[in-house]
Amino acid sequence: MSSSGYHEPVLLRESVDALIEDMNGVYVDVTFGGGGHSREVLSRLGDKGKLIAFDRDEDAQSNVINDPRFTLVPSDFRFMQNHLRFAGYRKVDGILADLGVSSHQFDVPERGFSIRTEGKLDMRMGKTTELTAAKVVNKYDEAELMRVLKNYGELSNARQLASIIVARRNERKFETTEDLVQAIEKVFPPQKRMQNLAKVFQGIRIEVNDEMGSLEALLKQSVEVLKPKGNLVVISYHSLEDRPVKRFMRAGDLDGEVKKDFFGNPERPFTPQPGKPITPSKEEIEKNSRARSAKLRVAKRNE
Ligand SMILES: C[S@@+](CC[C@H](N)C(=O)[O-])C[C@H]1O[C@@H](n2cnc3c(N)ncnc32)[C@H](O)[C@@H]1O
Repeated sequence: MSSSGYHEPVLLRESVDALIEDMNGVYVDVTFGGGGHSREVLSRLGDKGKLIAFDRDEDAQSNVINDPRFTLVPSDFRFMQNHLRFAGYRKVDGILADLGVSSHQFDVPERGFSIRTEGKLDMRMGKTTELTAAKVVNKYDEAELMRVLKNYGELSNARQLASIIVARRNERKFETTEDLVQAIEKVFPPQKRMQNLAKVFQGIRIEVNDEMGSLEALLKQSVEVLKPKGNLVVISYHSLEDRPVKRFMRAGDLDGEVKKDFFGNPERPFTPQPGKPITPSKEEIEKNSRARSAKLRVAKRNE
């Protein structure tokens, strides 16, 4: 764990190695969390270097770093470009995103992210979000629930789950994570139960926080915000996150379609690092099981 026990940073050396080329450049960490990556970035920057970090979770502010080169913006990173402009930065040298939730968010039962502890059905990364997990499970109609569970939970029995949830809430509203687990756990075979419950929670969490919408906005803005030769460095934890990142880095488009200019020449904003994504070593996974699904992708902004 980091000194605060808030979050153990994943692929720390690898991601920061890929991010920084100019020690006096301007860098952005869009997912500050416990500040593990930000601290490493600052340790490598010179006196003139700058780091602007974002986090939509109010709790992350308790980890703010007291350093004149550092600024923490308490906002969704979908508004990155506006905040940077407001702070006087039109272009930056590198953007780092370590997607998903922090260990802290999982570990506080009242936040409702964990299938293992009882808490309110909340799952909001930040308190300004109006949607909560309780609203999704108690108010979404069956078709919407099915969409969330299928598209974001990647569950093959999404229809069955949606119908069980609707039947259960007609008797009594869902209040806690435990209510939800108890209502659906029996449909999964015991050996796959935890894995599938985690997928249900993942799906609802992605919907509540519109994680795909934020990621898409971030990727699109990175084209404008990065200087030529600037690095886009993204750590993702599941295929729903990794797929758009991979496509965007390759083609500059979320569907993976390369645009052509007037003369038919391909217009690719990035050159992705060749080969497979970087994954954590066996030693890192042994020390930190939350690193096991991490994939690091890097792309350089073309001139
Ligand atoms: C995996 S943790 C990052 C941990 C961090 N790299 C560290 O070393 O401690 C992800 C963090 O990003 C934040 N986050 C996720 N999506 C966000 C978004 N759209 N805008 C701003 N912050 C976001 C979460 O609140 C969480 O604190």
